[in-house]
Amino acid sequence: MTGALRGVVALDGPSGTGKTTVARKLAQRLGAGYLDTGAMYRMVTLAVLRAGVDPADAEAVARVADTADFGIGTSPDRPEIRLGADDVAADIRGPEVTKAVSPVSAVPHVRELLVARQRRIIDDVVGHRGGIVVEGRDIGTVVVPDSPLKVYLTASADVRASRRSTQDTAAGRKSSVADALASVERRDHLDSTRAASPLREADDAVHVDTSELSIDQVIVALSELASHRGILADCKEEVAR
Ligand code: DC
Repeated sequence: MTGALRGVVALDGPSGTGKTTVARKLAQRLGAGYLDTGAMYRMVTLAVLRAGVDPADAEAVARVADTADFGIGTSPDRPEIRLGADDVAADIRGPEVTKAVSPVSAVPHVRELLVARQRRIIDDVVGHRGGIVVEGRDIGTVVVPDSPLKVYLTASADVRASRRSTQDTAAGRKSSVADALASVERRDHLDSTRAASPLREADDAVHVDTSELSIDQVIVALSELASHRGILADCKEEVAR
């Protein structure tokens, strides 16, 4: 056991709430592993697009998911994101994948495959490292329903769109706040209305609205929550400070 965290922190919520940044920084602070489950759905989506398959063709999508060779790392410093031999960390954030990821992630077979793989990765990291921060849409409701700390991050749609647009611009992609707002609202609708494990807040999740909070304020709040739940070993006070 190398870090302070014992068990799984489940971090769910819609896009643009700061989940990825918060999850990575929290994992670093707690010496824990980190798993970006959205990246897994994005990699399958990239494999679908590269295979020339229509993302709306559920059977063909399921076949691609069965054979896609992708790797996902659990280091919060620089998680590996690989499809075949390629590092696809940048490709999976592009507009084509972002547009197609909702229909792909709504295919029940894709979810079964990825949830099973997520559970294996989580068990492995908890066994070796003690704890892991996992981010997604269904972590607290489906993937790890017995997680000792479930957090549901939200922010107003305007704030989320503005954050997404800033991220896209920083990554060299053309983006306006209006386009980002349309994309965020479209994805929220698709992700929360699909039949297979839709995005929803777990009954026992702690709701954190990040609209008015900096990333560091969110990290401090979550570290304190982890400390109060008694899931930090040894350095409890130090980590909570
Ligand atoms: O967090 P993200 O924006 O990278 O996620 C990409 C998409 O993947 C998102 O539109 C919904 C889907 N997703 C999901 O259905 N279940 C998860 N656990 C994580 C992501």
